[in-house]
Amino acid sequence: MEHDAQVTRAWVLHPDIAGADKRREVSFALEEAVALAVALPELDVIGSTAVRLPKAHAGMLFGKGKIEELGNLFKANDVELVLIDGPVSPVQQRNLEKAWKVKLLDRTGLILEIFSDRARTREGVLQVEMAALSYQRTRLVRAWTHLERQRGGLGFVGGPGETQIEADRRAIDDQLVRLRRQLSKVVKTRELHRKARAKVPFPIVALVGYTNAGKSTLFNRVTGADVMAKDMLFATLDPTMRAVQLPDGPEVILSDTVGFISDLPTELVASFRATLEEVLAADLVLHVRDVAHPETEHQSEDVHAILESLGLDEDTRQIEVWNKIDLLDGETQAALQAKAARQDDIFAVSAVTGEGLDEMFVAIARALDAEKTLEMLHLEFAQGKQRAWLFKEGVIEAEEQGEDGFDITVKWTARQARKYQTL
Ligand code: GTP
Repeated sequence: MEHDAQVTRAWVLHPDIAGADKRREVSFALEEAVALAVALPELDVIGSTAVRLPKAHAGMLFGKGKIEELGNLFKANDVELVLIDGPVSPVQQRNLEKAWKVKLLDRTGLILEIFSDRARTREGVLQVEMAALSYQRTRLVRAWTHLERQRGGLGFVGGPGETQIEADRRAIDDQLVRLRRQLSKVVKTRELHRKARAKVPFPIVALVGYTNAGKSTLFNRVTGADVMAKDMLFATLDPTMRAVQLPDGPEVILSDTVGFISDLPTELVASFRATLEEVLAADLVLHVRDVAHPETEHQSEDVHAILESLGLDEDTRQIEVWNKIDLLDGETQAALQAKAARQDDIFAVSAVTGEGLDEMFVAIARALDAEKTLEMLHLEFAQGKQRAWLFKEGVIEAEEQGEDGFDITVKWTARQARKYQTL
């Protein structure tokens, strides 16, 4: 058979293990796994199968008959890479690779590959590298008994008797230390940028949502920016920030973030905290949902769980954006629109057709305005600089001149109040 040498022929397997977490339906889990695989441009996903298992076998994951059956399938289709949507131990991996004569990647490995492919900022790249190394390191540890082999030569490097695996682990640890140092530098620079941004009196609006919910599409629609929006998971790995003037509303900084996903490998959850810090600093969070997706409720629960684990302040205002209503049939669409209309913080929209966006903009402006508080300030005559700043910000509601200065009523955001303290 003639195949394109540039792409790797891949097959996706979703192990459907009896008794395992059945919250998600198998067909959707498989569909999502395929969508993940398709996100890697060098893969040609030629097929996918959900494999029902009474239990996971320690050494080979699958039973003997299944392995043979799948092996034949892979051979007939010239499969080069098998993606297993779930955890695979290093031992299982090696055994299966040998039995099927393919390369094998588990879910964590696949997500790491995607993240590494998509990382656009220096920080993102470093974080992915660190996560990949930590992942590799645990696999070395677990593979200890199988990989152990004596190191040849005189053993100057590690002393006599050092095994290859110890040397590998040390090399990984050294590399991790180096990366951590680089990352802290990048984070410091980023911190400076954030401070610089904090001086901008615009509120920050962060878009969050399950992967493929339509965040980038919405972001582009609002900013006219060309953040790549493709039918690809994780098109946005690093948050993209842009100042935009909302129609008939205030100027805000809109921030697009990486898409959330359920069962995100723990290595990655930790590593990507920093990437999502922008969300924690936001004045308003827009939770974009794909309401046309059959598992939209589960996705939403997962997003809330992740936001909570990130430590998002409970007081942070949130608006739910029910996106992709254009994909729904007329009746469902009307029902959802009616339901959304009954609630203050929910808007049914289509980022593609633009339907419902105007009302959403109004609500954003209103929500940001509601975040403002009234305060009374007393300024001495000598505080001309502060007074000029208040005028420039347009926050003054009333002013009265007294004998020893001005009594000024302001209506401002928490951000503006903080800024005022530093003048
Ligand atoms: P991640 O980067 O994975 O987090 O995805 P995202 O949330 O940024 O999604 P993106 O904007 O890339 O959109 C995913 C797919 O959904 C693209 O094919 C979009 O064209 C499509 N899409 C987004 N919004 C809508 C919509 O309102 N209607 C329809 N029909 N498709 C939409």
